Amino acid sequence: MTALSKLALVALVDPSQTRRDEVGKALMSMYRLQTYADPSHALAAFKVTLPDVLLVDDGVTSGHGADFIKLLHQDEVLRGIPVVFVSHGPEERARGAAQRAGTDKVLVKPYRRSTLVACVSGILNEKVEERWEHLPELQKKALKGTVETFNRISDVIATGEPLPFGVVTDSCKPLVDAINNNDFKSIMDGVKYHDNYSYAHSMRVATLLSLFGRAAGIRGKLQEILAGGGLLHDAGKMSIPHEVLNKPGRLDEAEFAVMKSHVTHTVQFLDACEDIHPSVRIIASQHHEKIDGSGYPNGLKDGELNELARMAAIVDVFSALTDRRVYKPPMDPVEALNLMSGQMKNHLDQHRVGLFREMLLDAVV
Ligand SMILES: [Fe+2]
Ligand SMILES: [Fe+2]
Repeated sequence: MTALSKLALVALVDPSQTRRDEVGKALMSMYRLQTYADPSHALAAFKVTLPDVLLVDDGVTSGHGADFIKLLHQDEVLRGIPVVFVSHGPEERARGAAQRAGTDKVLVKPYRRSTLVACVSGILNEKVEERWEHLPELQKKALKGTVETFNRISDVIATGEPLPFGVVTDSCKPLVDAINNNDFKSIMDGVKYHDNYSYAHSMRVATLLSLFGRAAGIRGKLQEILAGGGLLHDAGKMSIPHEVLNKPGRLDEAEFAVMKSHVTHTVQFLDACEDIHPSVRIIASQHHEKIDGSGYPNGLKDGELNELARMAAIVDVFSALTDRRVYKPPMDPVEALNLMSGQMKNHLDQHRVGLFREMLLDAVV
């Protein structure tokens, strides 16, 4: 079994090529996806590998998608797959049809990308998100609000419809309040096992960047903006296929070019949003630049690097090293800090790396 196979597998049975492509685009950065026009091909594949979530369109076998679900339910093994019935509205009709087919999960056509992402991610993260329900109100709100904002990003990418920045900062406010009460550990723990890696990483960056900002004397609205910048800094990764995003080991030149393009995608996404704070754009556009000029996309160096972006680069590298990935366990924080002041000495602002280290010693992360 390869490391990548640990990523959740989503299957779609849908006769429409257009919809199969569309679902592929929406989910490509997060999951492995297998699509089938023909339900008999899907059944044969499920005998080999069970998907973690299955989407069945009502148009399968000339409008008999429900019959296909019933067929699955007759099989002792296949009946355990969580099935979403994808059906035309109105919602009540679609829900009724889904129930008759034997599932309570329904996606009403036409749907937004964010609804699709939230539906699949909600099923895969049911257990993780269920645990959030038992957290105190503030921490629960921080997690639920940010995951919702994060899912909405896919709509902006799909339609170019703007995401008001107020929505982002509002969802980050409980996170910042928890940070300022020094009670954010449960938020960090809450995202640890979330299977949307981009969300988990972005939340860790949002939390640490806002905490770092606080340690540097930043308060109030700007602290919320920093959290928002952390949440959005990699938004463009939603346009990068998971094979590149989650590849263990070194990327080849072509793959690295694709990976690097996430910065341009993020900036394009931010430019499509309303009233984005300029600091958020700077954080996103410069978080992979390095002090010695070897970073991307513009090879900026020394004084050309904005102060907030220097902080973001430190937080981003620290998070990437200490994140849990499908192909690697998290690196020990002290080991990560040593690497950042050793091997990566010329990449990161060392004065600020020192401040970051001190801050982490004070905080329980
Ligand atoms: Fe990035
Ligand atoms: Fe990042």
